[in-house]
Amino acid sequence: MVDNIPEHIAIIMDGNGRWAEKRGIPRFAGHKEGVSTVVSIVKTAIKYKVRVLTLYAFSTENWKRPKPEVDFILKLPKEFLNIYLPELKANHVRIGAIGDMEKLPFHTREALQYAIDSTKENDGLQMNFALNYGGRDEILHAVKAMATDLNDGKISIDKVDNKQFSKYLYTTDLPEPDLLIRTGGEKRLSNFLLWQLAYTEFWFTDVLWPDFSEKEFLRALEDYGKRKRRYGGVDELNEAILS
Ligand code: IPE
Ligand code: IPE
Ligand code: MG
Repeated sequence: MVDNIPEHIAIIMDGNGRWAEKRGIPRFAGHKEGVSTVVSIVKTAIKYKVRVLTLYAFSTENWKRPKPEVDFILKLPKEFLNIYLPELKANHVRIGAIGDMEKLPFHTREALQYAIDSTKENDGLQMNFALNYGGRDEILHAVKAMATDLNDGKISIDKVDNKQFSKYLYTTDLPEPDLLIRTGGEKRLSNFLLWQLAYTEFWFTDVLWPDFSEKEFLRALEDYGKRKRRYGGVDELNEAILS
């Protein structure tokens, strides 16, 4: 039994390329296998009543990869949605996206927009794809939008606080992640949710994304359940000693 399920889980799905390289097959095959992991993790998230799941699928830096790999990755959201959207709808999943969508190929944007529009009334798991997403890009985008509103007199400078600023981020009304998972062994953020992860619990595993199983996911949830989040305060025991 897992207690204290995180409301919002963000995942850096890393290790697809190495999974394929280990098998002597093209990196594409790893990305394809990674989609099957997405399917199983979404099912688990629904089962455990996670409210929000945000998946890092393509970063603003991933354009540096060879064009055939980029093209392949950016076709996956459409392929995934073509197959699974009916099932996701049946499970009341609400699809969302964060990142700079303008620069994505039309077919990717179109598939996402259709999924977003046709699930917007759903009240089950909110599943966000982070596509052409970069934390710094998001903050700059927010600063520019806020500066425009300040200039136009739509907001006043003394009203600008964390809450107000957060509204300008791609994650607008989403709660901040409670748990961040990164697979694939690296211990870095790679420009993911820089503002939103301020007090998030981190959980890293060497398991490569295509091998990430429900069992491994549950290990992360169990570990999270034991954590004490203090947000800069003191826990009850310390409080007793101090008083
Ligand atoms: C993560 O797997 C998927 C994306 C970044 C799109 P990688 O492709 O980064 O896999 P590794 O890190 O090279 O193994
Ligand atoms: C992070 O993985 C981005 C995604 C999972 C989409 P990368 O493989 O791009 O990160 P680095 O290059 O190892 O930092
Ligand atoms: Mg990687």
